[in-house]
Amino acid sequence: MWDVFSKPFVQMEQVQFGYRRSKVILRRVSADLYQEHCTAIVGANGSGKTTLGKLLAGILKPWSGTVRLEGYSTTALRLGQIGQMIGYVFQEPDRQLFAPTVREELLFVERLQQRLNPTVEGKADQLLAEFGLGHVQDSFPHSLSRGEKQRLALAAVLMREPGFLILDEPTTGLDLERRQQLTAYVQRLKAAGVGLVIISHDDHFIGDNADRILTMAGGEITDDSHS
Ligand SMILES: Nc1ncnc2c1ncn2[C@@H]1O[C@H](COP(=O)(O)OP(=O)(O)OP(=O)(O)O)[C@@H](O)[C@H]1O
Ligand SMILES: [Mg+2]
Repeated sequence: MWDVFSKPFVQMEQVQFGYRRSKVILRRVSADLYQEHCTAIVGANGSGKTTLGKLLAGILKPWSGTVRLEGYSTTALRLGQIGQMIGYVFQEPDRQLFAPTVREELLFVERLQQRLNPTVEGKADQLLAEFGLGHVQDSFPHSLSRGEKQRLALAAVLMREPGFLILDEPTTGLDLERRQQLTAYVQRLKAAGVGLVIISHDDHFIGDNADRILTMAGGEITDDSHS
């Protein structure tokens, strides 16, 4: 019924992409994604899940076809605009951590834009507490454990308050307790109306969170099922 009442947040039409001219990775992928859903993307290693996620987040641009966010093509949007619409947490969180301390990682964008104020700092401190990072707030991000880095990357993305979030293999390296905490957080984001894509091999986590599952094989979506 969702498609009758709401517009898709993400629209992919006939998306083709490859890293090298000689090799197509995604072949004509089309799908609409809704903010009301937590959509899982599953499939074998190398099937193109991460590549698709990066196209959704505007990190990669299609060879042909279009990816639209709230109606705007990612080729026409600036990265800063995209970052406010859609957040992306990398499969390897190291790739998106670059500040000298954990707390600075959350304040980086605002400081850069000279918009640091008590409200912004309060939001950062709240996220640090929520993600169990308060005790390492002055540490160098790259010295954190893998699970801590993943939580930090997620907290940093949430500072922008995006309407849609892509989590690439978010449970890798998380212990049971942290996985349950992540599930609780995902449920809260859903309740707050944030759309989600979870790229994962973790069937339990998907079962607990996803209400739609897209299956990829060989660079194509081969199945689309709702639960
Ligand atoms: N930067 C890159 N340059 C060239 N080829 C790449 C690059 N990144 C990925 N590929 C290739 O694109 C294909 C899809 O990779 P992708 O990372 O999207 O798969 P995936 O489904 O996320 O796999 P996994 O489950 O292992 O994370 C693979 O054949 C991979 O080798
Ligand atoms: Mg991947």
